[in-house]
Order: sequence, then structure tokens, then C-alpha cells
Amino acid sequence: MATGRRIIKTVIEEFLLSIKCNYKCNEPLSKHTTFGIGGNADFFVEIQTEQQLIKLLKFIDENKIKFYVIGCGSNLLFGDEKFEGIIIKLSSNNAGEFAKVEISKECICCGAAVSLAYLAHQTAEQGLSGLEYLSGIPGTVGGAVYGNAGIKNYDISSVLQEVELINYTASKSILSKDKFNFEYRKSNIKNAIITKVKFILKKADKNDILQTIFKEQQKRMQNQPLGTKNAGCIFKNPQNDSAGRIIDSLNLKNFNIGGAEISSRHANFFINKNNASCADMLNLINFVQNEVYKKYKIKLETEIQIIK
Ligand code: EPU
Repeated sequence: MATGRRIIKTVIEEFLLSIKCNYKCNEPLSKHTTFGIGGNADFFVEIQTEQQLIKLLKFIDENKIKFYVIGCGSNLLFGDEKFEGIIIKLSSNNAGEFAKVEISKECICCGAAVSLAYLAHQTAEQGLSGLEYLSGIPGTVGGAVYGNAGIKNYDISSVLQEVELINYTASKSILSKDKFNFEYRKSNIKNAIITKVKFILKKADKNDILQTIFKEQQKRMQNQPLGTKNAGCIFKNPQNDSAGRIIDSLNLKNFNIGGAEISSRHANFFINKNNASCADMLNLINFVQNEVYKKYKIKLETEIQIIK
């Protein structure tokens, strides 16, 4: 390692110790993504409080350090090479500020690190409807709002009211939903970390909501390769069609490149079957994009975030 980089790493470590956050050095990112793919990060930092986050972002900004923020790593493909910088994760530990859920009548105030599945069940138990369709999506609330997660004809922005965020230069804002643009599987939230979110739900019959959650789970168990190393749907759906149906129509289920394989259950899910590298996965993605374009002149756009 170059001496300059070693000095910078010592300075970073001293800083992380000073703000008393949990961190690991040289941490394999494969341990933090549902794909199980990714090289090591110089630093992997778990943040418990807003104050720690503000201090860390200031330090990063002042020292021009490379960083990336992850939720639960369910929609991410990291490169095979070393990540020379800091990976930040808002802690989902119950003691932390980002894991809290407060329910007051129909208003839900929720930390960004809360899992969607947990929140959907909590609100269902209170007879509150609006998040049940998202119960099967693996991910955190922050990640889901950032990527406007959803299922067909429904996305999380429809129940969103307010977003609390800290921008990359470390200042905090609380903004109502209409300050942002939410489109199919994307928002224009940029250069900021979502820390808290407010939803407005509707009163409904608890058993009906729990029934919807149950049905969603059944559908996923039938149609999706649960329990495998995947990152959900690889591609966004083209308008009025399904990327899974299109890829399937080319008979590509089970097709593999290296350790990366197209699921036999759902063709828009790619699986890390056999120690796939990021390169294997990217080759498979490119291959499918080319095949689909050759046959249908449709350009499939990735839904997963690719970080190199
Ligand atoms: N289909 C096939 N072959 C396949 C996959 C799908 O023919 O291999 C057909 C199905 O039979 C169905 C149609 O395509 O007629 C749509 O399939 P599905 O209901 O599975 O929905 P999807 O459009 O492929 C979307 C979301 C999923 C979400 C499901 C559940 C996107 C990109 N995907 O998938 O979200 O779980 O609806 O309703 O919007 C994700 O975002 O990561 C994700 C998995």
C-alpha cells in the first residue's frame, strides 16, 4: 500500500474512534449484500446517532474521502476490487436512532434503518393500511424511499408524507414529499442520506391487511427464488411489460456466466449460484441486455445499484 494512503487510513481511524462509532477495517462487502458479492472496504462504519452522522459527513467532505451509504444491501452489486473509502450503514440496532418506529393515529414516524417487512407487520397489527404490499420487499425504509420501491401499480411514495435527510455537506433538512420527484423505481433524492421518514396510512381491518401480507408472501414463494443469493429484480420493467417475461421468452432461465445464473423461477432474478464475481454478474447483465435488444429493440435498464 502507498504510504500516503496508509497515513490517510490512520487519520480516518483516529477520527472514527473519536466519534465512538462501530467500525471495521478491510471488511468484505460480500458479507453486507444479499448477492454475497463485493471486495473489501477500507472502512465499514455503523452509525447509531444523527450527531455521529453529521460529524462523519463533515469529516468526509473536508477530507474528500470516497464513501457510499448502504441500507441492508439488498439491491446492490459491489465491484470485486477494494473499495478505497468508507461504507456507511445506519445501524438497525434497536438502541440506535435510526431503528425507531413511532405510531400516532395514522401517522408513522420511522427511522431509515427499519426493515420494510418489520414496518409492514407493525402497522398491520395497528390496523393501518398502506405498507402491506411492500412487506415482501427485502430492504430498509430509507433505501425503499430512495429507490421508490414497490410492486406493480403501487409504490412507497404513495403513502409518504415527509423525508428527513442529512446532505453530504452535513446539513439537515425536513422536507415534504412534494419537494421531490418520485417516478417508477426512482426518486430525485441526491447527495443526501435519508435518516427518518413520515408516512400517512389509512385505518382498515387488521385481518384484511394481514391477509394481504400473507397473499403477497405466498405469491413470492411461488414466483421468486427466495433463499438464494440475489438482489431482487435486476432490471426495471419496460412500460406495460415485465422484464422477467421478456427474458423468459428468450429461454434464458438457468443460463449462466461463471457463477452467475438466471433464476429458473423468475428470469429477472439473477443468482450468485457458485461464488460469482461482480464481473460474472455484469457479463450476464450485458449479455441479457444485448439479447433482448437484438430480438425486441428494447433497452433494459438496471434496477440494482452497481457500485465500483
Ligand atoms: N413472468 C414470466 N416469466 C418470468 C417472470 C415473470 O413469464 O420468469 C411473467 C409472469 O407470469 C407475469 C408477469 O411476467 O405474468 C409479471 O411477473 P411478476 O408478477 O413476477 O412481476 P414482475 O413485473 O416481474 C414486479 C416487481 C417485483 C415485485 C413483483 C411482485 C419490478 C422490476 N419488479 O415484478 O419487484 O416483487 O412485481 O408483484 O418492478 C424488485 O423490485 O426487486 C422486485 C422483485
